[in-house]
Amino acid sequence: MKTISLLGATGSIGMQTADIIREHPAEFKLAAFSVGKNIEIARKLIVEFSPELVSVQDTSDCHRLRQEFPKTKFTYGNEGLIEVAVYEKSDILVNAVLGSVGLHPTLQAIECGKAIAIANKETLVTAGHLVMEAARKNNVPLLPVDSEHSAIFQALQGEKDKNIERIILTASGGSFRDRTRQDLENVTVQEALNHPNWSMGAKITIDSATMMNKGLEVIEAHWLFDMSYDKIDVLLHKESIIHSMVEFHDSSIIAQLGTPDMRVPIQYALTYPDRLPRLSAKRLNLANVGRLHFEEMDYERFRCLQFAYFAGRKGGTMPTVLNAANEAAVAAFLEGKIRFMQIEDIIEAALTRHEAMDNPSLSMIEEVDKETRQFVHSLL
Ligand SMILES: NC(=O)c1ccc[n+]([C@@H]2O[C@H](COP(=O)([O-])OP(=O)(O)OC[C@H]3O[C@@H](n4cnc5c(N)ncnc54)[C@H](OP(=O)(O)O)[C@@H]3O)[C@@H](O)[C@H]2O)c1
Repeated sequence: MKTISLLGATGSIGMQTADIIREHPAEFKLAAFSVGKNIEIARKLIVEFSPELVSVQDTSDCHRLRQEFPKTKFTYGNEGLIEVAVYEKSDILVNAVLGSVGLHPTLQAIECGKAIAIANKETLVTAGHLVMEAARKNNVPLLPVDSEHSAIFQALQGEKDKNIERIILTASGGSFRDRTRQDLENVTVQEALNHPNWSMGAKITIDSATMMNKGLEVIEAHWLFDMSYDKIDVLLHKESIIHSMVEFHDSSIIAQLGTPDMRVPIQYALTYPDRLPRLSAKRLNLANVGRLHFEEMDYERFRCLQFAYFAGRKGGTMPTVLNAANEAAVAAFLEGKIRFMQIEDIIEAALTRHEAMDNPSLSMIEEVDKETRQFVHSLL
């Protein structure tokens, strides 16, 4: 039995993690979890899983839940996220919280020697060097949950790093893959949230539409697999059946395939190096699929992907700026404060004015993150 701490239990990944735990009650126990503001779902999860510790975002919700569930321990705010992350009885942390708020809990959990199933890509983008260094020092495994990184991780099992030629991340293209840049001038939030293949949280769905999601994944892959940016390619693949691939020196390519279902990589991160059956999974039938399509990535069409390669190659504090500007710009778009195409303009402006500082400390990263968000707000 593996005991789990889960950050972001009310989100898309969080709820699918709960599905896995529900499907395998003899293998997994949910001991601690955090939510943001969705207290209705939190209540249901508390009744179903009887966790020992729950963190909420606001203190008022914390007080209310304490009255309702006297047997559960409640905590709140950013400190609460850390308490859940380091919960002493948990064997593994599933970090599925949204945004760079996940950084501190990740670092603290690593210091406590917890294995980490990492969905929260913003943490690796904003401070990959700190997370990877801490993981190495504490001998803690970072198990990818993102479907692309799980695919690469699976393709690399039993392989030697020295034999890798390149990583090929596949990209569905998001909600607007068949539209030109001109078509995007007046798209609505609702249209942007309509992803053709995946049902995900709002922020990552917008990131997919701008292609920033793939950019964040390029930086995530750089850190998780210690791969230079020249060896990470992106290929447009509309069907999201091939989740990503690794090419080796001998020209062999190993790919991982499946129907788009995040529960597969979530479960693999929880069971690695073993696997468990997924009885409710929709199995891939390639004869029914018939054809798979691939296209070269158009970096002029998807400028956010260009920005991510630029920020990743520049390194230091530049990826922190990329991530913070993107988080703030996407939030502004979702709130109806800016148009879709302004997201990339804002990110470009933030990157252009920033002088990257090498090898930043945690406090430098926090300072740059805060300052970038202030800059974005000054533009709105
Ligand atoms: N969804 C996917 O299929 C997918 C795939 C690969 C990677 N990821 C990554 O996984 C992470 C989560 O994505 P998601 O789509 O699951 O997001 P989501 O549906 O928006 O869920 C985010 C979760 O984080 C909580 N949260 C947000 N801000 C918080 C804060 N300041 N303090 C405490 N809790 C906070 C939310 O709480 P409330 O809702 O209760 O407010 C919710 O539980 C992201 O980093 C994303 O890039 C997602």
